[in-house]
Amino acid sequence: MVDPVPSVSRSVETYRRAGELIPGWTQLISRRASQFAYGVSPIYARSAKGARFIDLDGTEYIDWANAVGAVILGHADNVVDSAVKSQIDRGSIYTLTNPLEITLAEELNDTIPSSEMVRYTKGGGEACAVAARIARGTTGRDKILFCGYHGWHDWYQAANHLVDPESGEYPFAGIEPIGVPKVLADTVAPFTYGDVEGLEALLEANRGEVAAIMMEPLRSEFPPPGYLNAVKTLARKHDAILIFDEVSCGWRLSIGGVQKHLGITPDMTVLAKAMSNGYPMGAVVGSREVMEPASRMFVSSSYWSDNVGLVAALTTIRELKRRDSETRFREIGEKLRAGLTDAIATSGLTGACTGLPTHPVLAIEVPDETLRRKVNTLFIQEMAKRRIHCPTSFVLTLAHTDAEIQQTTEAAADALRVIKRGLEAGNVDSLLECDIKQDPFRRQVT
Ligand SMILES: Cc1ncc(COP(=O)(O)O)c(C=O)c1O
Repeated sequence: MVDPVPSVSRSVETYRRAGELIPGWTQLISRRASQFAYGVSPIYARSAKGARFIDLDGTEYIDWANAVGAVILGHADNVVDSAVKSQIDRGSIYTLTNPLEITLAEELNDTIPSSEMVRYTKGGGEACAVAARIARGTTGRDKILFCGYHGWHDWYQAANHLVDPESGEYPFAGIEPIGVPKVLADTVAPFTYGDVEGLEALLEANRGEVAAIMMEPLRSEFPPPGYLNAVKTLARKHDAILIFDEVSCGWRLSIGGVQKHLGITPDMTVLAKAMSNGYPMGAVVGSREVMEPASRMFVSSSYWSDNVGLVAALTTIRELKRRDSETRFREIGEKLRAGLTDAIATSGLTGACTGLPTHPVLAIEVPDETLRRKVNTLFIQEMAKRRIHCPTSFVLTLAHTDAEIQQTTEAAADALRVIKRGLEAGNVDSLLECDIKQDPFRRQVT
């Protein structure tokens, strides 16, 4: 056991104050303390560099969450940050438009296979809402079929009015579609990833009304063979716009996105998060045909033109290319996956580190779902004690080196041994020093 276990008392006290001042404690549900080992995991940070951060109590942690994927080169990357700093010296936003908008659009067109025209936003959910608006405007239809997570806006959250409140099936426990107009419920419907017949039935049931099929093309596993092609064929058959939401899956597998890696292009793509290494930025890119009508739609916001996001995105994309990110991410992910799989085996547990190398997921075999949630929480808790901040799926950056991988897999071996002993003795509950971690969003594509 690592000695001493780091204190998180300042984090916990600050979180208590946050509860009095900020409804919901944080601005992003995934940042809530209930998403980690509350009382053991750090909650607040005071600085971050590379693959590590220092929390409010002064402890350094290896970071495998990386702002839920928004950091891709590493925290406070020198190249991106110096480009941003020199832009700030020249003005963070102008009265006039910065020609960098065109430079970034050209870079995106050169990078994302389906990109011919580009609009910008500051975040992913916002970019999804823009994509929904453009798809509806371009087709003159109202309905959107979706698969995956697409943010907080009404067009998407309205689907939760279709959920039976008693079923416990809302995407996030304790979060209801309060405040989302019920009249929108009929304008959006979820479909199940991998189920072509289900999607076809939904399209038939809404024949002539579907503006778009919006989906995350993958998260941590490749799609079933032929699946995305079948979705595209159905979209074509029903004259619906196919939108890939590559906000989370887009940049690590390939700089050109999942569409480049798998060789299947949508009509429109939503991008955000990692494209600017932690500076607010999002984009909707697509074919000229589907994007051009946006010039006659109300799609407009002051900060979409800010210079910081443009510079950060342009520099990040060029740095990803210069640093051969695709190869490096594969190498980092494969090493981490192998190390974690070894750690599971040496602990005596059954399981493996699964998922794409760019998104490894710890999968320990446990007899039932209730136990899985406890075991996952225990893993997060024991890793936090060893100064590793991670969910059970790992978000990579180019700043993760062999040193971080080794430290992580050694800590994991210890943490997994604790779990093994707990399972054998039947006392996992008594080993938990925190509440059981809440499930993440249910609507994510796995
Ligand atoms: C696939 C996907 N779409 C949209 C979003 C929303 O992005 P943001 O949190 O920047 O609004 C996320 C965020 O996790 C995402 O993963």
